[in-house]
Amino acid sequence: VTVYVPRDAGALSLGAEAVARAIASEARRRHVDVRVVRNGSRGLYWLEPLVEVETSIGRVAYGPVQPEDVPALFDADFLHGGKHVLGHGPTADIDYLKRQQRLTFERVGVVDPRSLEDYRAHGGYRGLAAALHMSGEEIVQTVLDSGLRGRGGAAFPAGIKWKTCLEAPSQRKYVVCNADEGDSGTFADRMIMEGDPFVLIEGMTIAGLAVGATQGYIYLRVEYPHAQRALEEAIAIAEAAGLLGDDVGGSGKAFHLEVRMGGGAYICGEETSLLESLEGKRGQVRFKPPLPAIEGLFGKPTVINNVVTLASVPIILDRGAGYYRDYGSGKSRGTLPIQLAGNVKRPGLVEHAFGLSLRELAEGYGGGTASGRPIRAVQVGGPLGAYIPASQLDTPIDYEAFIAMGGMIGHGGVVVFDDTVDMAAQARYAMEFCAIESCGKCTPCRIGSTRGVEVIDRIVAGDARERNEVLLRDLCQTMIAGSLCALGGMAPFPVLSALDHFPEDFTGAADKAN
Ligand code: NAI
Ligand code: SF4
Repeated sequence: VTVYVPRDAGALSLGAEAVARAIASEARRRHVDVRVVRNGSRGLYWLEPLVEVETSIGRVAYGPVQPEDVPALFDADFLHGGKHVLGHGPTADIDYLKRQQRLTFERVGVVDPRSLEDYRAHGGYRGLAAALHMSGEEIVQTVLDSGLRGRGGAAFPAGIKWKTCLEAPSQRKYVVCNADEGDSGTFADRMIMEGDPFVLIEGMTIAGLAVGATQGYIYLRVEYPHAQRALEEAIAIAEAAGLLGDDVGGSGKAFHLEVRMGGGAYICGEETSLLESLEGKRGQVRFKPPLPAIEGLFGKPTVINNVVTLASVPIILDRGAGYYRDYGSGKSRGTLPIQLAGNVKRPGLVEHAFGLSLRELAEGYGGGTASGRPIRAVQVGGPLGAYIPASQLDTPIDYEAFIAMGGMIGHGGVVVFDDTVDMAAQARYAMEFCAIESCGKCTPCRIGSTRGVEVIDRIVAGDARERNEVLLRDLCQTMIAGSLCALGGMAPFPVLSALDHFPEDFTGAADKAN
């Protein structure tokens, strides 16, 4: 019998390792033949560690399982899908999963991330096989036609970026994967790298063929040791199988891939500081232009994309641009892997076509707050994303709809807050975060963020509230207009949205006393 126990870092933090050991030893004790496969996570985090058993009706799920539950699971004949209080029936029928549209994540939590055979058996490397019969221009056109936009946050059309790099004349070009996933509440990149590393390798290889790059780097945040191991093992396996190296798939074309670890700075997720760091220098933002697609790593044309963007490429090449494009709404095509976190009953990964509303996400999928109190705000797009009040929860998740209401989807992280949240404290946190993480290159961000913290403190202390609010808004405008990159340029968004939607939280102590 095959039993699946995730090796995903989220599941491990909840005890998956001990559960896997307990299942193996209980099986030995009972003399039953059990094969434990360590898969990625399905992204149903409130059920982790989620144990699945392969049965005649497909996989059956049990969770959250702790080591002490294991003997009772064996007593309940869980190896044949037997009933138990922790049972959820066939995994594929779990509502949270059933209602999703998993394209990029179709194999995550399903396959053994260390098995190339399993990857292939689930459609892996079909995208590369198609790409090997195409010219660079044809691959780029397919990505353009799919409507895929950068999933790291800026939503720039991936095909246009690739086209710029393809047309840049150079003997040497690079593909760089931005795996420095630093936004609060985000974990989609990590889940892919840990649960389906071959899809990222395949996507990067296709990008290399498209633009004529022969070397790729994955710039991985240092806080992701499990992803590092998964990627390095998968790269070695792909090399041994001739899918990376001097002769990719027997095509005579070369593509080499290496993992490079970051040093823990949020700003190294910004593409130009990432390139500086990759070159061995201090991670500081570069002026643009030149764009990395023209002068990137070591001054050479470089395609730099986020993990989710690159991992979405194989399915586009395999099933065609139209297949991907048919999902979504308006100019937001395809699907978005949304990461639902914060004060919510059912946190997890929800991949769905654009157009799902925030309410369907937070209340439908998430089941409302974990505390049972009303939702007051959601923050979308990481620490630099705006706070959206409960009254705007019907907004569809779509790039343009978010821009229209002064927000942004960013990397797809959604953090839910209940009515006990102190929005002035959240606004202060945004400024403080910017002060701590600023690379120091420009004044509005370096000095402005520190002054921002002080002004918010004065407002909350009830010190000349109105005058200080004018000052804070003025400072925010200066940071938006005068910062070189998104860190200083966007840190004011959570502050301004908190001020606009939740002014009552900024009522100073003196006002409160009156
Ligand atoms: P940007 O708008 O300057 O650029 C977007 C991308 O398109 C860049 O890669 C740029 O080089 C490229 N580009 C623009 N014009 C091009 C052209 N004509 N040809 C080829 N390439 C072109 O945005 P930026 O500063 O790269 O990213 C900001 C975003 O990053 C924010 O919106 C935020 O959501 C996101 N972010 C994501 C984080 C994460 O952990 N994933 C953390 C912090 C911010
Ligand atoms: Fe550096 Fe901040 Fe300026 Fe960005 S905005 S370049 S992080 S100082």
